[in-house]
Amino acid sequence: MSRLMVIYGAGGHGRVVLDILRSLSDVVVVGFLDSDKSLHGSIVDGLPVVGGIDQVPTLLLEYPGISAVVAIGDNQARREVAEELRKRHMPLTNAIHPRAFVSPSAVVGTNVTVAAGAIICAHAKIGDDVIINTGAIVEHDNCIGNAVHIAPGAKLAGRVTVGEYAFIGIGATVVGNLNIGRSAVVGAGAVVLHDVEPFSVVAGIPAKPIRKSS
Ligand SMILES: CC(C)(COP(=O)(O)OP(=O)(O)OC[C@H]1O[C@@H](n2cnc3c(N)ncnc32)[C@H](O)[C@@H]1OP(=O)(O)O)[C@@H](O)C(=O)NCCC(=O)NCCS
Repeated sequence: MSRLMVIYGAGGHGRVVLDILRSLSDVVVVGFLDSDKSLHGSIVDGLPVVGGIDQVPTLLLEYPGISAVVAIGDNQARREVAEELRKRHMPLTNAIHPRAFVSPSAVVGTNVTVAAGAIICAHAKIGDDVIINTGAIVEHDNCIGNAVHIAPGAKLAGRVTVGEYAFIGIGATVVGNLNIGRSAVVGAGAVVLHDVEPFSVVAGIPAKPIRKSS
């Protein structure tokens, strides 16, 4: 039986998530929701943007059993929309590409996107509202907090802990056993050799603080 889904977020990441869902034979995507009213009524990659959060009750009535995934790259915005959807009783589910690997011993929350080529290894724990983006590697025993985004090609060695709302930039490498603090940002291509303080932005090889995050 097919699963009906709607994607919240009709931007670039939304189109990536649509590709993921279209590669799953049991999912039918009915359209997008988006907070940007200028998109309402438009067609994105062949599907309508049916409205914003106010459209949720109609969708729940029109498509019994429907669920949503939030496709917004920004951690804070993704989490806020997910919380609004939960308040409105919209079930949230995951978008996991069939060519991602998720270890059977990993524990994965809800509203999690795992893009093509991503690898989540043994005993990793992934919170809610997380993006493990294209080709990212989350090694064994990692603990990834809620609303984290691991960008494409980033690599986290074993036993790394990533605090809520943190962002690990594209192609960054984090060596094992480190803590990346809440809301920290690791710059593109950084090599992280030491713990990163909460709300700190680090970049470079080896990674050094460049400013505080907001
Ligand atoms: C780290 C980052 C967040 C900093 O952004 P920012 O605060 O706007 O920083 P700025 O661009 O003003 O740069 C500040 C300084 O840090 C340096 N810097 C910025 N990003 C850097 C990086 N990734 N590696 C090395 N140095 C970097 C800049 O060259 C600049 O140095 P300068 O003061 O000597 O000129 C951003 O550059 C970055 O790497 N973002 C990741 C993007 C990404 O992964 N996107 C994927 C989306 S799926």
